[in-house]
Amino acid sequence: MRPQKWRLDLLEPLITEEQLQRRVAELGAEISRDYEGRDLLLVAVLKGSVVFLADLMRHITTPHSIDFMATSSYGAATESSGIVRILKDLDMPITGRNVLIVEDIVDTGHTLAYLRRLLLEREPASLRVVTLLDKRERREVDVPLDYVGFVVPNAFVVGYGLDYAELYRNLPYIAVPKEGFFDEE
Ligand code: IMP
Ligand code: MG
Repeated sequence: MRPQKWRLDLLEPLITEEQLQRRVAELGAEISRDYEGRDLLLVAVLKGSVVFLADLMRHITTPHSIDFMATSSYGAATESSGIVRILKDLDMPITGRNVLIVEDIVDTGHTLAYLRRLLLEREPASLRVVTLLDKRERREVDVPLDYVGFVVPNAFVVGYGLDYAELYRNLPYIAVPKEGFFDEE
């Protein structure tokens, strides 16, 4: 596969680094209050959620551990097909634990709906969801979100963990591609 061109000039910032950092700190404080005195396991979905997880957990002041899952949906890169495949399962059992799923973005909701069903079968003490971004206009299945960073419009976004063709995850802000971004060179 030929590497994609790095087209920073064709990205329009949508959520700035400052806005992200302020909101992630607020979410961390809220989660810390809600889980005070309780066990907590953060379950992040690879790879998009790692940047959010890394910042969020440093704002959670109560004891907690982390674990990872990897999922993949069949079909085109920027469209969700609703069929989800588990590429990597959790390392640890979650029975009787307070689990908080950490997501980068909820789009159609299929990935999260599938993940919730899968984790609920393992009988955690509780199961909640924190997502940095909620693209709710695109929702196809109703899935409860307990903590939401930002509601975003119906547009493809990159940065802060979110990729296009595996690039741009390292941007400290969230951006929307401009005209020409997706064109072949
Ligand atoms: P859903 O199953 O449609 O909710 O899709 C969820 C997954 O699709 C996310 O975890 C992302 O990996 C990917 N995704 C959805 N929208 C975007 C986007 O705007 N940019 C990058 N990835 C996205
Ligand atoms: Mg994802």
